Amino acid sequence: MARASTGAASRRARRRPDRDRPDDHGPALLIASGVRGRLLPGGRDMGFWTRRLDRAADEREADALWWAWRRSCEGAELCTQVDTATGPTVVVPEVVEMVLGPPTTLLIKLLPGQLIGDVRRAALRLAPHLGAAALRVQPVGRIHARIELLDADPLTGTVALQLPAAPGRVVLGRDEGARELTQDWADLAHMIVQGVTRSGKSVFTYGLLAQMAADQRITVCGIDPTGLLFRPFAGTRHATHQVSGVADPQAYLRLLHDLVAEMDERITSLPADRDTLEVTAEAPMRLVVLEEYAGLLRTADQDKQVGKDVRAAIGRLLAEGAKAGFRVVIIVQRAEANIVGAYERAMCSLRISFRTDNQASVELLHPGAPRELGEAHTTALPGIALLSAPGEDLTRFRAPFLGGYGAYVRAVIEACQADPDTGPAAAAA
Ligand SMILES: Nc1ncnc2c1ncn2[C@@H]1O[C@H](COP(=O)(O)OP(=O)(O)O)[C@@H](O)[C@H]1O
Ligand SMILES: [Mg+2]
Repeated sequence: MARASTGAASRRARRRPDRDRPDDHGPALLIASGVRGRLLPGGRDMGFWTRRLDRAADEREADALWWAWRRSCEGAELCTQVDTATGPTVVVPEVVEMVLGPPTTLLIKLLPGQLIGDVRRAALRLAPHLGAAALRVQPVGRIHARIELLDADPLTGTVALQLPAAPGRVVLGRDEGARELTQDWADLAHMIVQGVTRSGKSVFTYGLLAQMAADQRITVCGIDPTGLLFRPFAGTRHATHQVSGVADPQAYLRLLHDLVAEMDERITSLPADRDTLEVTAEAPMRLVVLEEYAGLLRTADQDKQVGKDVRAAIGRLLAEGAKAGFRVVIIVQRAEANIVGAYERAMCSLRISFRTDNQASVELLHPGAPRELGEAHTTALPGIALLSAPGEDLTRFRAPFLGGYGAYVRAVIEACQADPDTGPAAAAA
């Protein structure tokens, strides 16, 4: 997954030379401070004395932060114990540079065996004790990390979605480092999106579909019991692969059988020297969106056999579809085992959790996620989600917001109007 920086240029701070420190303070700090312009009461610049006072205040602040770092690393177990001649000693990642901003940043050296992910995982535990609402942790070289103390959650505030999307790319959201999470849609894996009601699942899906609808090499397919997701696609080339509502469970099955038959045909006709289909306008990627998955299965289960067949067909699309240009997107309130089986879950390597009602739900899709992150996620704002993807650290991000359902409808209609097959150009031909 690519991340493009959208943040403002960082401020350069004035550096100060080392100073002596008592031995138990560990290695000397390089204190760098932004120009703070502190004035004495009355507002008169006292020149030399002001600078002395500034410096004394900075040093006190740096000391306090240095201790806070040490104590919170111990508390968060971001430390290691070493035996010395005088007994066991706790060692924490060394602070090699401090900038007393704002923004305040620490440059730390990781302990042997530590990874940047270890610091990120501890961030929730460290932040309050460093006087911050959140930490932004960025790697610097191989064994250093820059830690920025943030006054507010970096994910507050909506993220607008720019349309049309860059060709072949899809924006999933913006991460805590203000970087866009973008991906070549051809590299998308099967996806599962969970979250309680009104946590932002549909808005996220609207964003995806609005970006992808215009591309000739994609067909937006699927089943939507709510009847809202596919409404703007009426009359377009996508609509023949979509079923909406809960009136006709047989229609779900017919669509899935058609998709499976096409998948089988594509696999059989793969050229001898290829193991995956090349997606083109003639053989487009079938993005199979299964909205409100629990409701979808409930509807299918009105007839036991239909329910069974629907599950079997979805299982086949998940198991064999990727090489034939099929991507499945399962949207569900909770990815629990009696709704999304362990096998189906395992097939979805792109996993997204909007607000969940407990930590265990986070664990379902993101095994090994820090417990406190899962707990904090039970109060996440709509649109804020956790993402796991192959080769990626667990990432907290904010999904883009198009601006409500009306904006989604307009975006899809506009995207499909540009379509030579179904748009005005096609009608005139
Ligand atoms: N990414 C977002 N940014 C801002 N607001 C959002 C975002 N996602 C959701 N919301 C708000 O939350 C409401 C519910 O979102 P929705 O996607 O319908 O939830 P769900 O499908 O999970 O029930 C939306 O109407 C919108 O007001
Ligand atoms: Mg919804």
